[in-house]
Amino acid sequence: MDDAVRDAFPELDDIDDADLADRAARVWADGLEASDFERLDEVPFSPKYEADIGDVRLVDHTRDVTRWAMALADAAVSLQGVALDRDTVVAGALLHDVSKLHEYSGYDGETFGDHVPHPYYGVHMVAVAGLPTPIQHIVVSHSGSTPVEPRSIEAKLVEYADLLAVHGLFWNEGEKLFPNG
Ligand SMILES: [Fe+2]
Repeated sequence: MDDAVRDAFPELDDIDDADLADRAARVWADGLEASDFERLDEVPFSPKYEADIGDVRLVDHTRDVTRWAMALADAAVSLQGVALDRDTVVAGALLHDVSKLHEYSGYDGETFGDHVPHPYYGVHMVAVAGLPTPIQHIVVSHSGSTPVEPRSIEAKLVEYADLLAVHGLFWNEGEKLFPNG
C-alpha cells in the first residue's frame, strides 16, 4: 500500500525528514484502506463541481496544490528571505484534502462535508497519525469552510496554493474563477 502512495505522490521525496514523509504516506495508505476505494486514482476531487471542471482526480489536485505550494515557498525564500519550514509546507499540502478519501467513500450525491466541513475530518486523520501541530493547523485552516484562519506562513502558502490550483481548473474550463475563491 505504501508503495502505491509513493508512486501516486512523487512529491513525498521533496520532504527531507524521512520519518515525516513516512508518516504522511501512512495517512494516505490508512485512509485508503479504511475507504471503499481500491486505488487512489479512483478518488474524485469534487463531484459537486464535475459539470464545471470535468472529472478531476483527488491525486491530481493534491499534486497540483503541492507543486504550487513548493513554488510559492521557494519564491518566498528566494525573493524575500522568508523563514519557513519547507517540509511542513510540502507535507501539509500533500495532506490538506486527505479527508476526501472518507468524504467520497460511497458517495451518492450527499456527503458529510455538506454538514461537517472536510478539514475537520482531515485534522482528525493527521492528528491521530501523530503528525505535528503545524501540519494539523495547515489541514484545518486551508479552506474557508472552517472559521480557522491560517496563522503561519506555511498554512498561508497552502491556502493560496489550493486557491490557485482550483482557480486554474475553473479558468481552463470556462474562463471563470472558482466561485468560493
Ligand atoms: Fe484542495
